[in-house]
Amino acid sequence: MKNYFCKEHLTALLFLLTVGFSCQPEEKATGLLAENAMVVSAHPLTSKVGKDILQQGGNAIDAAVAVQMALAVVYPQAGNIGGGGFMVIREADGQYHSLDYREKAPLAASRDMYLDDKGDALPEKSQNGHLASGVPGSVDGMVKVHEKLGSMDWSKLIDPAIKLAEEGFELSEDEAAYFTRASENLKKYSSVDPVQFTGKAWKVGDIFIQTQLSHTLKLIRDKGRAGFYSGEVADYIVAEMERGGGIISLEDLEKYESTWRNPLTGNYKDYTIITMGPPSSGGLILLQMLGIMEKYQVSNQGQAYADYLHLKTEMERRIFADRAAFMADADFYPVPVDELLAEEYLSQRFSNFDPQSATPSDLIREGNILSMSEETTHFSIVDKKGNAVSCTTTLNGGMGSKVMVAGAGFLLNNEMDDFSIKPGFPNMFGVLGGEANKIEPEKRMLSSMTPTIMEKNNELFMVVGTPGGSTIPTSVFQAVVNVIEFDMGMQEAINEKRFHSQWKPDQISFEKDFEREDVLETLRKKGHELSERNGIGRVDAILVLEDGILEGGADPRGMDAASGY
Ligand code: DON
Repeated sequence: MKNYFCKEHLTALLFLLTVGFSCQPEEKATGLLAENAMVVSAHPLTSKVGKDILQQGGNAIDAAVAVQMALAVVYPQAGNIGGGGFMVIREADGQYHSLDYREKAPLAASRDMYLDDKGDALPEKSQNGHLASGVPGSVDGMVKVHEKLGSMDWSKLIDPAIKLAEEGFELSEDEAAYFTRASENLKKYSSVDPVQFTGKAWKVGDIFIQTQLSHTLKLIRDKGRAGFYSGEVADYIVAEMERGGGIISLEDLEKYESTWRNPLTGNYKDYTIITMGPPSSGGLILLQMLGIMEKYQVSNQGQAYADYLHLKTEMERRIFADRAAFMADADFYPVPVDELLAEEYLSQRFSNFDPQSATPSDLIREGNILSMSEETTHFSIVDKKGNAVSCTTTLNGGMGSKVMVAGAGFLLNNEMDDFSIKPGFPNMFGVLGGEANKIEPEKRMLSSMTPTIMEKNNELFMVVGTPGGSTIPTSVFQAVVNVIEFDMGMQEAINEKRFHSQWKPDQISFEKDFEREDVLETLRKKGHELSERNGIGRVDAILVLEDGILEGGADPRGMDAASGY
């Protein structure tokens, strides 16, 4: 962060320095400002698709459908039709909805399907290849949300994605490098080499065309749900499964339904938080953290920032222990939501908090969260009337199971790894699980995705979310706290370096290039082990400023972009 002062402020500066206060930076990062409407998503092309729909008179839900479909084309590492997600919606009149289009375990799935004869876990099977996929939910989810709340013709919302797949789009240097790197795994795990991806070493400026995918999208455009869950595309999925030893059947596809759920809501000071409940753990984690923090004064100035980060870590280690024990798909396991959020429970849970020193997490087994990439994706949308959509969607890992459905041209998820494949065995994000999140047919695997909308005094205030596996709820928490406690704008709050901790492994990860060594030193003195890593999260969010102007904050850690008017 820069300290930047202009001449007029010199007197005030001298005064502040004399009395020993630290200086406030004057030049703040500001995101795109727009009067009417805003879309922030992982790719400039998808943000533009969303804005175009809004300008044609579509509402935020229409734009969300178009963005989800377009992400499946230009951001195949996470955008998808072969995965799932969660959408939290606040209508302009203050009605809330949340849609769960999370993948489900196939009917033939079973608790020990990723254990070998000796009972050892086989993460390679839950993370890559045909057995790693849950039954996809994205297409059913988009159909359901459009039926209930959309206003434009369905086909007009799919057309932009079809155009991008058919005519192609130009690759940036990073995209070209990523696609080329991914080719090896796609070749290895797909039953038929997906040459549209793997056929060449991609260079910046190449045009990436996906003919099979455009055909699949046309079927979805013309037949809706039936264009994916039955007929040609369903047959392609089942044939892919049969060739590769997977278990998703026609019956699984026919039976899949996304589900409207009551959003999880809570309050923090003057703010109302509307977020995702089970099968996500994200909303619960966010509300538990805010619930505990309400009793503390926090600041990001000087050493007080280390005290805040210590407090945050101590909350995280307790709450992620709760996650492992109590959180799962509430259709299968009685998640004690009210109990976990009760004020008395939270104060009792935090009663052994010591402001001076870290509480060690017993080491059971460490996960490696250091090499994780940010390959879920989140988008935030506000339309002219004030309808808001917060949506996080994923294939789980980058490019999911790495299985491209031959003939249909899309990637399948590896979401089965979000189940607890063996009690106490960490998933790819290093989080532990137990009985609650065991594999059962048709169950949804526990998620951390935290699409969230906030109100201040009953008015729309913020739309926020991020990818990042287990770091999702804690990144959302930090974006929220940066704005409401540390007085930052949306872009500034997103640019701030992030920290994450999750009970096990017993450490605080922090983003590289965090420059306040004194803060790190204080955390070490309190007994925390620190571990530096590359970017944590990609928060794409919208803040309603006091004058009603929308500030879109796009995460500079990716090629994320805001587009508004
Ligand atoms: O639902 C979840 O919590 C994970 N499948 C999300 C994966 C993710 O964020 C990957 N990107 N970092």
